Amino acid sequence: MHSNLLLVIPLLLLVSDVGAAAGYVRPPPRKTFHFPWTPPKPPSYPQQVDKLKTVGDLSVYFEVHISLAGDKHMRITWVTKNKHSPSVVEYGTSSNNYSSTAQGEHTSYRYLLYTSGKIHHVVIGPLEDDTSYFYRCGGEGSEFQFKTPPSQFPVTFAVAGDLGQTGWTKSTLDHIDLCKYDVHLLPGDLSYADYLQQRWDTFGELVQPLASSRPWMVTQGNHEKENLPFLEDSFVAYNSRWKMPYEESLSDSNLYYSFDVAGVHVVMLGSYTDYDEYSDQYRWLKADLSKVDRAMTPWIIVLFHVPWYNSNEAHQGEGDDMMSAMEPLLYDAGADAVFAGHVHAYERTNRVYNGISDPCGAVHITIGDGGNREGLAQKYKESPPEWSAFREASFGHGELKIVNSTHAFWSWHRNDDDEPVTSDQVWINSLIGSSCLAEKNREP
Ligand SMILES: [Fe+2]
Repeated sequence: MHSNLLLVIPLLLLVSDVGAAAGYVRPPPRKTFHFPWTPPKPPSYPQQVDKLKTVGDLSVYFEVHISLAGDKHMRITWVTKNKHSPSVVEYGTSSNNYSSTAQGEHTSYRYLLYTSGKIHHVVIGPLEDDTSYFYRCGGEGSEFQFKTPPSQFPVTFAVAGDLGQTGWTKSTLDHIDLCKYDVHLLPGDLSYADYLQQRWDTFGELVQPLASSRPWMVTQGNHEKENLPFLEDSFVAYNSRWKMPYEESLSDSNLYYSFDVAGVHVVMLGSYTDYDEYSDQYRWLKADLSKVDRAMTPWIIVLFHVPWYNSNEAHQGEGDDMMSAMEPLLYDAGADAVFAGHVHAYERTNRVYNGISDPCGAVHITIGDGGNREGLAQKYKESPPEWSAFREASFGHGELKIVNSTHAFWSWHRNDDDEPVTSDQVWINSLIGSSCLAEKNREP
């Protein structure tokens, strides 16, 4: 038995774009990470971290992350214990030589007995495309560095959902750190704080080395809700800590928004806010998609938490209502790819619409395998649906390299393998130039 597996595994690694990798033997989930921990110092980010851990030092700031905030702008977010620390960012293209300064806003929140630190949000810019910037928060402390995305193809997205903060999360982040990417996309379930607010802080520290150097664009999952009837509203911590560019995309809620990067229009939706045709989210999505100019953004990709196409036994049918309400909008707009999480496993479909393979539908990818403490969803429906192209329950992350207006290369990387090993890969052709868009745009 074992000798057979040893033969089968290398064969599976060699074959790309095949069906279910049924012979792969996966290791068990790893334990929750314990804090405090000392973050590694990747060579690309040599100047951060050192001064962040001085106990009792009110100038300490932490949980630094960045996100795109409209054309040529970046939002810098961080947390301080010191209530008097200013919401100011100094930045420039040379180390320790800041040519610009920006002021922003701050917030904080209470949740049961917990009071958050001062959460700062500062938008900086205009910034040059595809350029490294050095920055410092609050007028003191360590220097950080990020790179802005390019304005034109190629552009690469790292994609991983359901992260949590376990040894597997760390492994996923280490793999992503070795990938050359421009923007991180996260389809929900970030910290797995699950009401224990300190876990938001430790999650912020865990992801800081990556999230302070590339924009992290996130949407929310069920683990972000944290509502307590009569006590706490939903998404209090998430909305306070992970402010996304909803105002910049004319949304009235941090739970759904869109942004453009290079030639890609990215739409982030909320699986846990109203989505029926009378809802604000539906109206916003319809208006947002109607404004997309495919000459400017030939690609449309969409993220939300609960998958619509899922042949795992876990969370079956949970996305059905949202799918019946919103899938026609995505289809009419010619969305190319949809990323979801929630199911702790990986699955990729053919282009699909209304439950069957359709060359004018979107490729749906479930990538809820970032490494959380709940472990993997290992049971699949016995016979895969005709739309399911690849499925496997292993921790990992994905990379979407959009090469030009018509071609993108998607690859999925298992944590058990070295980063360059792709466990699943496929070229995706955009709908631009296909008869699909022409037919959809035809007046009735
Ligand atoms: Fe989830």
